[in-house]
Amino acid sequence: MGQSSGFAGLRIGVTGAGGSFGQALLRQLHQQGASLVALRHSAGSLDLRDAAGGQIPVQTVTWQVGEEEQLTALLAELQILVINHGINVMGARDREATRLSLEVNTLSALRLLELFLASPNPSGQRREIWVNTSEAEVNPAFSPLYEISKRTLGQLLSLRSLDAPWPVRRLVLGPFRSALNPYGFMDADRVAAAVVAQVLAGRELVIVSPNPLTWLLMPLAAWGRRLYFSWFTRHRDP
Ligand SMILES: NC(=O)c1ccc[n+]([C@@H]2O[C@H](COP(=O)([O-])OP(=O)(O)OC[C@H]3O[C@@H](n4cnc5c(N)ncnc54)[C@H](OP(=O)(O)O)[C@@H]3O)[C@@H](O)[C@H]2O)c1
Repeated sequence: MGQSSGFAGLRIGVTGAGGSFGQALLRQLHQQGASLVALRHSAGSLDLRDAAGGQIPVQTVTWQVGEEEQLTALLAELQILVINHGINVMGARDREATRLSLEVNTLSALRLLELFLASPNPSGQRREIWVNTSEAEVNPAFSPLYEISKRTLGQLLSLRSLDAPWPVRRLVLGPFRSALNPYGFMDADRVAAAVVAQVLAGRELVIVSPNPLTWLLMPLAAWGRRLYFSWFTRHRDP
């Protein structure tokens, strides 16, 4: 398949790169001409293949939750960071499941967001950050700790993006098949293609879901939070 040029020349890093959506998104970004960085918590370089089985060039960088600061130099070299890693502890509600859900889904994502927002950009290059929350922000996912951790991330994203100097895109996806959601009925490659198409069309709130409630509730929630947070908080001058 030929390459388009929507992201030509941009260096894009994706966390959770080895997962279903991570790999699907990297393939789409490659087709759009991006230079790829796979951020992985699993060991080993990512072997990324296109539909014909050809190898896609990708730099793999290993990181661990809690050690986000070690990525500071790398983040400064990226034009786009996609925060995509996540876990789903399903029906668990014990102390460790609670800690892990908040640490992986919420706090590490927030730390990466803050590091990227604060990283130097001396040449004033185009920059963006995309955060994969979930439609669990506004709908049940039948996994309470997943919902709590993703909703908290979504709310913090609304708050912190008020002062962001460049686009902060929120990916709100419905159920697709992956290790995290074996019951998902959408296909990760199609979801990633729809995400990239919406981003290229300029959307900051990117929704890919068959659920009409998500299309209704998510824009309302994002709008309501924006108003509420901007009325009751203020920007602190540096
Ligand atoms: N599947 C769905 O139905 C669905 C719906 C809406 C939103 N989402 C969101 O989409 C994102 C990708 O999910 P997916 O469905 O593609 O699941 P996935 O295939 O399980 O991918 C998630 C990836 O996150 C990384 N990860 C797992 N545990 C981690 C940990 N403890 N610390 C850091 N990274 C860890 C792993 O990649 P590496 O080992 O390469 O780092 C893993 O492959 C998640 O944020 C998920 O919440 C999924």
